Amino acid sequence: MKRKGFIFDLDGVIVDTAKYHFLAWKKLANSIGIDFSETQNEQLKGVSRKQSLEKILAWGNKTLSEKEFTQLMERKNIDYLNYITNMGENEILPDVVKILNYLIGQQQPIALGSASKNAREILAKVNLLKKFDDIVDGNDVTKAKPDPEVFLKAADQIGINPVDCIVFEDSLAGVQAANLANMISIGIGDETILSEARWVFKDFTEVSIDFIENLIKK
Ligand code: BG6
Ligand code: MG
Repeated sequence: MKRKGFIFDLDGVIVDTAKYHFLAWKKLANSIGIDFSETQNEQLKGVSRKQSLEKILAWGNKTLSEKEFTQLMERKNIDYLNYITNMGENEILPDVVKILNYLIGQQQPIALGSASKNAREILAKVNLLKKFDDIVDGNDVTKAKPDPEVFLKAADQIGINPVDCIVFEDSLAGVQAANLANMISIGIGDETILSEARWVFKDFTEVSIDFIENLIKK
């Protein structure tokens, strides 16, 4: 049996947390007199906490001292964590567990490649920690997506060549990072937004076991 590396993004791919990031950023932005649209929010997906705030401030033409900047990042994270306090397995997106279990059954290495510093905590909350062979998250990287660092690190940790890795991503920055890492990018979400991905599916209910089997065989 061939071994491929399956790398999953977290927010918006495994769990339905992208909406909470949006709500928390919007609340924070509004509190300093900046507003942004859901279309603009696409640019925040997959991007680190620091870069997200930089983008929001740029949209509002605002500059802050380093201290204020750090305080706002903290405030956003507190709000975000509040939204997810009671999060449980019901926030796992449809058919994610089915795909993970299939891959585990086929002895395929599985890694997480996320920009979030809350990734381990979230996986623990939804009881999925044990399904991953390795986790690379926002605490382990210095360069945010679309830089490929997070995925290259994940591939290295599971011992699979980047060209033999498959990345599932809901953000354009993440799809670009996977492509830059020379990996097969699979977009999960809107195909007009994720058109740079090799394949795009609305969600995992559209990803068949046959499709996964073919990825392994290739
Ligand atoms: C990404 C999300 O997964 O993680 C972004 O798509 C988020 O919206 C980023 O900003 C960083 O997350 P956190 O949890 O460290 O603030
Ligand atoms: Mg994501």
